[in-house]
Amino acid sequence: MCGIVAAVGVDGNVLPAVIHGLKTLEYRGYDSAGVAIVSDGAIQVRRRTGKIAVLEEDLGQNGLPASPMALAHTRWATHGAPEDRNAHPHRDHLDKVVIVHNGIIENYAELRTDLQDAGHEFTSDTDTEVLANLVASLLEEHEGDLHAAIQSSLQRVHGAYALVAASSECANSIVVARHDSPLVVGIGEELTCAASDMPALLGLTRDFLVLENGETAVLTPHSCQIFDPNNQPVSRDIQHCDWTPEQAEKGGYPHFMLKEIEEQPDVLARTAFDRLHDAEGDVVFESEFGLEDQALCRFSRLRFMAMGTSFHSALLGKQFLEEFAQLPGDVLNASEFLYSPKLKEGDALTVIISQSGETADSLRAMREVQSRGGKVLGICNVRGSTLDREADHVLLTHCGPEVGVASTKAFFGQLTALYLLALRVGRARKVLSKEQGLALLSDLRHLRPKLDSLFSDEAEEAVRTAADILATVDSCLFLGRGFNHPIAMEGALKLKEISYIHAEGYPAGEMKHGPIALIDESFPVVAIATPGKTYEKMVSNIEEVRARSGKVVAVAAEGDQKVAQLADATLFVPKVPEHLSPLVNVIPLQQLSYEVANRLGKDVDQPRNLAKSVTVE
Ligand code: M6R
Repeated sequence: MCGIVAAVGVDGNVLPAVIHGLKTLEYRGYDSAGVAIVSDGAIQVRRRTGKIAVLEEDLGQNGLPASPMALAHTRWATHGAPEDRNAHPHRDHLDKVVIVHNGIIENYAELRTDLQDAGHEFTSDTDTEVLANLVASLLEEHEGDLHAAIQSSLQRVHGAYALVAASSECANSIVVARHDSPLVVGIGEELTCAASDMPALLGLTRDFLVLENGETAVLTPHSCQIFDPNNQPVSRDIQHCDWTPEQAEKGGYPHFMLKEIEEQPDVLARTAFDRLHDAEGDVVFESEFGLEDQALCRFSRLRFMAMGTSFHSALLGKQFLEEFAQLPGDVLNASEFLYSPKLKEGDALTVIISQSGETADSLRAMREVQSRGGKVLGICNVRGSTLDREADHVLLTHCGPEVGVASTKAFFGQLTALYLLALRVGRARKVLSKEQGLALLSDLRHLRPKLDSLFSDEAEEAVRTAADILATVDSCLFLGRGFNHPIAMEGALKLKEISYIHAEGYPAGEMKHGPIALIDESFPVVAIATPGKTYEKMVSNIEEVRARSGKVVAVAAEGDQKVAQLADATLFVPKVPEHLSPLVNVIPLQQLSYEVANRLGKDVDQPRNLAKSVTVE
């Protein structure tokens, strides 16, 4: 999705910092980039289709003067094809106002017609150019006060937006606004900045103000004044972000995805270990979790909702809950929930899982639950995100910033958090004894050193052998059962997202009910066959694939020669209790999709058509 970075400083040139920030947002996916400054009473814009490097090349030849204020944007096309003229920033037809905008103005067509009737001319197909013209048309009425013109424009606009605007009249202030699209304000030294995501500003500051829906703000080098939709000033505490700029950088790895895969043992430690309460065989969450034993006993079920990879976490959240707490769980795709019949909430707790905390479908599902009187526990990785702020209860994962579009360590952090949640509910409801709780904690503690073998030379070699099989096919199947059915789905999603090879994840029991028809020598199957209740059944499934000449890539426990002899390639994983197998088994599948995509020369960190944070429905 689109990215915004803007800054206003006392003097000097903020352009390099703004472009650097924009690069840290590349992971969100985009098709064009642009930047604007105001100099000597005139707005100057450079914008180019393609990567930020193309824009930089343009700036190298066709430079902009040094400027203490700049607005920059990466665009992910919604209205109009990816062409230079549709790239942001956009100006009104008289060059008075310049805007960068994320989101969708739903009534832009009507507004455009009205503005055209009033003599405005348009050069792009975008909703943003309409907004720039609308603001400019109201500027005179508000005696050149850009903030007032923005507020009055936003009353006429329907849809989602995060925007930054400047006027040709004023080079030392900018106006920002948000509704249903994220925007943070950074407070630096002698500089104030804004961006759609914190990592973009980490090079400038680690102190942030988060805007709420409907708020606007005026930013000057030394101030940020926030206003509510009724134009009343709002005071807001500064939040300090402990992510470092280095965490948001590649640190010597060729891709963020590889770095993030290898960070997973640390994610386990950071998300879990400080929360383990060994004396009680229990887990202690921070105060923002806010659900005591009594409350946890009142719920008759938990309902998990999410999208994409987080939806696969949700499937495992239900399984952990039912296993450890013997409490029923439901799982719903957040976008489907929105259009399901509006039943009474009853006494369920809804758990919304989102790495970014900004996924539009998940946020809408949260608000829908709340509007029906239900309570929401948000599990997310980004402090200050909308989910973190609006959920009734919060459980943060501590994965550090995830930059690769294909989610890896965030998924791992979510599984860890869901394991802890199920344990906590089980202890609160007294279906888990202290001894059982202690055993589950001990399993988790012992997991971390076991993960090391997944990053050994032998493991890398096995991944390469498995990639030899998958890199040449058009389509394949991932199979798993029980705890590993969601892992089969996640393995398939990873492969299709970054290598563009068609892959489906199925519960292995389904294979004979349809997908088996696809199997022949050109259609391989990735089978997760680690120890547990369904091990023998998985072995039978592998036999069935082989009987139809299908190649098999197996995920098997170290030393399992039975599976290794049946498979064409085996990804060995450490032996762990069955309930921890998802956290182990997902890692070689992530490595496999990375290896295949890299070998095929695909853009691993920014796969085509995908965005890191899907902030529109
Ligand atoms: O930020 P979220 O966890 O809410 O994102 C949900 C999905 O958009 C996300 O998991 C997506 O499927 C990723 N590309 C998966 O790799």
